[in-house]
Amino acid sequence: MSYNTNQQWFKEAKYGLFVHFGLYSILEGAYKGTVTSGLAEWIQHSLNIDRDEYASLLNLFDPVQLDIDTLVKRAKDWGMKYVVFTSKHHEGFSLFDTRFDDFNVMKTPYGKDIIMDVSKACKKYGLRFGIYYSQAQDWHDKNGLWSGKQTDDFHEYYLRKCLPQIRELLTNYGKVDLLWLDTPISMSFDECQNLYRYVKSIQPECIISGRIGHDLGDYMTTTDNYIPRLTFDGDFEVPCTLNDTWGYSKYDKNFKSADAIIGLLLKIVNRGGNYLLNIGPDHLGSIPDEAITILDKVAEYVNRNKEAIFDTFGLPYYPYDIEWGEMTAKRNHLYLHVLRNKRSLDIQNIANKVKRAYIVENKKELAFLQTLSCEGYGEISIDIPKEFHAQKFCIALEYDEELPIFEQIRDKKTS
Ligand code: GLC
Repeated sequence: MSYNTNQQWFKEAKYGLFVHFGLYSILEGAYKGTVTSGLAEWIQHSLNIDRDEYASLLNLFDPVQLDIDTLVKRAKDWGMKYVVFTSKHHEGFSLFDTRFDDFNVMKTPYGKDIIMDVSKACKKYGLRFGIYYSQAQDWHDKNGLWSGKQTDDFHEYYLRKCLPQIRELLTNYGKVDLLWLDTPISMSFDECQNLYRYVKSIQPECIISGRIGHDLGDYMTTTDNYIPRLTFDGDFEVPCTLNDTWGYSKYDKNFKSADAIIGLLLKIVNRGGNYLLNIGPDHLGSIPDEAITILDKVAEYVNRNKEAIFDTFGLPYYPYDIEWGEMTAKRNHLYLHVLRNKRSLDIQNIANKVKRAYIVENKKELAFLQTLSCEGYGEISIDIPKEFHAQKFCIALEYDEELPIFEQIRDKKTS
């Protein structure tokens, strides 16, 4: 049986915003002069920072520039369909008001429930609302898991903090569309299955990420930043960084270009998945300028070509890597995303009977020629109008068949 969320919104969504924010954001990638070479949100673990010392960051948490409303509105403008916000990362600090642990945002100078703001903003802008929750790792709690170390009694933690906090998250913030669990480590099958049923008993429609453990999630979550090479049969999502870390680090300026992000988005969409792309606000809660600039640029392409990105499905196997861009598809349509400057385009090894070709962003009809290549493969040639010679854009091919029909490369004749 393949992964199936049974939620149409998730199948159509394709593009979401991940936000990593917590006490680690205050450290911005370094502690007492040592820069972590690992992920910024793992700094406590990587630099083995004493638990109580780390916990004193609580008194410094005051992200006065955090503006959730604007951030969620931005996500919408960027073309994204859902938001997943960290409510408690491995450090154990809760960004929401909780009765089950004092190590939470209400005890900081900031003193406001951040998850409440996220839920309100998602509702306001019509985005789906997702909550990240580290269900197993909790480096603040004596019985929470800490990867690579032994914990006395995880089950005690599971009953005392994990389940009750998840209940709070699923009862105090209205409809939760997605619960993003992560790093189950040594959780038992029974604990994971029980957690799954618990979530569904409170909010039956809430989708559970692939990282609940024992492959019990509603969809497949890939390894961070890894894209399945071929179309994956079933619902899936690729969680990705914009630079190299999730939580903010002022030492990580290794941002991918807007062009690279567009390419990755289309590749994931081509394989049938969703792209969950991360930003990490800094210690004041501001979104790094680089992230905004990149996502604004990506949005220019995404918003002009929505038809070819959202509510699409994974493509059948095409035998070539293509040098000019990427392909996506939906019923009766193949979309050719032309990402390099081209003056004409040949698309090879396609056997559909094409009825119509048009430019997605303005619906202008394009003349095309459907022939056989010199080697006898199906070929479509399109002249590209001048105004698109030096611009990324997308061409739709329309045909009667539901799916694109790609011809495989023939093998050598033997007789
Ligand atoms: C990893 C990391 C974590 C990050 C997550 C995002 O599992 O532990 O820091 O939150 O991936 O996908």
